[in-house]
Amino acid sequence: KKRVLTGINTTGTLHIGNYVGAIRPAIQDSRNPDVESFLFLADLHALIKCQDPARIERSRMQIAATWLACGLDPERVVFYRQSDIPEIPTLNWLLSCVMSKGLLNRAHAYKAKVDAAVAAGRDPDADVSMGLFCYPVLMAADILMFNANEVPVGHDQIQHLEMAREAAQRFNNLYAPADKPFFVLPQATGGSDVEVLPGLDGRKMSKSYNNVIPLFEGGRKALDEAIARIVTDSRLPGEPKDPDSSSLAVLYQAFATAEETAAFRQELCDGLGWGDAKKRLAEKIDAEIGPMRMRYEELMAHPEKLEEILQAGAKKARAIATPFLADLMHAVGLKSFT
Ligand code: TYM
Repeated sequence: KKRVLTGINTTGTLHIGNYVGAIRPAIQDSRNPDVESFLFLADLHALIKCQDPARIERSRMQIAATWLACGLDPERVVFYRQSDIPEIPTLNWLLSCVMSKGLLNRAHAYKAKVDAAVAAGRDPDADVSMGLFCYPVLMAADILMFNANEVPVGHDQIQHLEMAREAAQRFNNLYAPADKPFFVLPQATGGSDVEVLPGLDGRKMSKSYNNVIPLFEGGRKALDEAIARIVTDSRLPGEPKDPDSSSLAVLYQAFATAEETAAFRQELCDGLGWGDAKKRLAEKIDAEIGPMRMRYEELMAHPEKLEEILQAGAKKARAIATPFLADLMHAVGLKSFT
């Protein structure tokens, strides 16, 4: 069976870009009988960006509830919190010792942080935590711990996948017989531009641009309010619109069939008002996520249920990780004397 693995940082709430780009395809994939899915909450990674314990705690509950509300079946999928798998930080260390600093120096996220510090006249060595610098090593450990064949991620994560492949190759070359490598080389999938959902202003939907449509938080009201803020030109109802002049039609497309999208675009060309178009978009999105939001709210009211599901998931994950890590420890020379 093909192993597919992906994770989401638990640093805040999710938007429909996360849903369309990561959650929905991962859940669809997990229903394929030829796929073994590993989906997890990257809550150790979250500490890099967020040092507010209450926010971390809430976010991991929200994101756990989101996955389940969106249809993840914990019986079929190995669904867990990264922090519940102590084998991952241990593998992180083994990989740290075979990855070069030079490789990590090239990471986009690290370089962006250095550039920002320099631009602000600050010392980059003081601004960059070791966690941020070593982000790709921990991510490689997440992926290699379960020997994932495919990792569905957005464009921004492709470099991290290349680094994970590099780590796998280095470790295999150093420690594995040529015909019996420990790690398969993971492949990034789904990282095409089409799957990057634009936000209210047309740029990639992202918390850091403040242009998101929240997935569940704030309910239908927050959905309508966000959609009302989609940037459009000032053409009046009755005037023909260019469907590509705003992100409205692309957002519609993410929730509609090809025929529905074609019809919607035609109506814009024929003069549908922006206000009415926005109402239609909100209806379309809510038809899909409304029922999920109800399940989400139910799950959020039952943290003990979430806890039980995640602990069962951690058990399944560790049943794989514990013996595999033992093999790796032996390979590097860390084994009992007798
Ligand atoms: P994170 O939490 O930043 O993002 C989660 C996923 O959502 C995708 N995404 C989008 N897709 C389409 N359109 C958008 N506007 C959009 N915004 C975000 C991201 O590309 C990502 O796939 N490093 C990872 C978390 C991680 C991980 C891993 C992933 C940790 N370990 C191991 C895979 C395997 C991250 O930053 O995701």
